[in-house]
Amino acid sequence: MKNSNLTHPKFGIMQREDLIKKLEQKYIEQEQPMDAYLEGLLHAKAINYWDYIQVDALFSLQKTRTDFPDEMIFLMYHQVTELLLKLVTHELEQATAEEGVTGALLLEKIKRAKRYTEVAQMSFDVMREGMDPEQYNKFRHSLTPASGFQSATFREIEFYCTDLWNLVMNRKKEELKGSSDHDEMFKWIYWQMAGLDHKTGKKSLTLRQFEEKYMKTFRKLASRYQKRNLWQQYLALPEDEKTPELIATMKEFDQVFNVKWPLVHLRTAEHYLEHGKEVKAATGGSDWKKYLHPSYQRRMFFPDLLSEQELENWGKD
Ligand code: HEM
Repeated sequence: MKNSNLTHPKFGIMQREDLIKKLEQKYIEQEQPMDAYLEGLLHAKAINYWDYIQVDALFSLQKTRTDFPDEMIFLMYHQVTELLLKLVTHELEQATAEEGVTGALLLEKIKRAKRYTEVAQMSFDVMREGMDPEQYNKFRHSLTPASGFQSATFREIEFYCTDLWNLVMNRKKEELKGSSDHDEMFKWIYWQMAGLDHKTGKKSLTLRQFEEKYMKTFRKLASRYQKRNLWQQYLALPEDEKTPELIATMKEFDQVFNVKWPLVHLRTAEHYLEHGKEVKAATGGSDWKKYLHPSYQRRMFFPDLLSEQELENWGKD
C-alpha cells in the first residue's frame, strides 16, 4: 500500500474518522447521498489561482476609448478605487446589521473601512503624478460627459455612514431646519450642486444619467439606513461601549473620507485641468474648483463628535 502514509500532517486517523462522521451528519441533514459527493471529489480538478481570482475575467475589463497609453492608467486606477470602495461597503454592511452590533464590532469594522480609504488616499499619486498631462487633456474629451462624480459606490458609503440630514447642502440647512421629510432632503442632497447649471438651474446630462440609473436604489438605501447607519448604531450602544478608541476611529475615518481623499483628489484635478494656459472645464461640467474643496461642501459623517475648533477648521488644508 504505497499511499497509506499520505495522511495530512494535521489529521491523524482519529481526526479523519471524526471528519467523516461530521460529513455523514451534514449530508444526512441535507438529505443528500454522501457517496455521490465523494465520487465527485474523486474526479474534481484541483482549484487554481487563476480560476479562483477570475484573472481572465478581470483582465477583460480594461476597455479604453482611445489609443493614448495613459488612458489605461486612468481607467484601471478607477477600477482599483471601485474595488477599494466595495471593500468599504462590505465592512459597513456588517456594521449596520439589524442585530448583534457591539461597540467592539463597530470599532473593528470602522478601522477596516478607514484602512481601505487610506489606501485610496495614499495611492492617489498614481493619478496625480502618474499620467502625462498632455495625453490626459486629450483622452478626457472622449470620456465626456462621464465623471467619477457618477460613482454610486461613493454615494452608497455616505448613506451607510450618516443621517440624510448631514448630506443636505449647506445653504439649504437653515431653510429646512427640523425637517424629517426624506423627499425634501433628497431634493437638496449636496452632490446635486455638481450637476446644476447655476444660471438656468437645469440639471446636466451627467447628473440626469446618474439619477436615472441610481436614484431609486439610493432612496431605498437611505431610508433603510436612517435608523441604523454608523452614527445611529453608535448612538444605540450602551454608554460603556462608546469608548475613546471608537470615537477617535470614527473621527479619523470621517477625516480621511471627507477631507484627506477629497483634498488629494482636488489637487489632482488642479494638476491636470490647470495645466497649460486656461482652467479647463471638467468632463462632468461642474464648477469643480469650488465644489470639490472639502471646506466648501463641509461634508461630515459625525459632526456631533467634533469640537468647535474641529468644526471651524473642517476641510481646510
Ligand atoms: C486625473 C484624475 C481625476 C480628475 C482630473 C478628476 C476630476 C474630477 C472633477 C473635476 C470632478 C467634479 C465633477 C465633474 O465636473 O466632473 C470629479 C468628481 C469626482 N471624482 Fe474625480 N477626478 C479624477 C480621478 C478620480 C478617481 C481615480 C476617482 C475614483 C473613483 C474619482 C472619483 C470622483 C468622485 C467620487 C467625484 C465626486 C466627488 C464629490 O461629489 O464630492 N476621481 N472628479
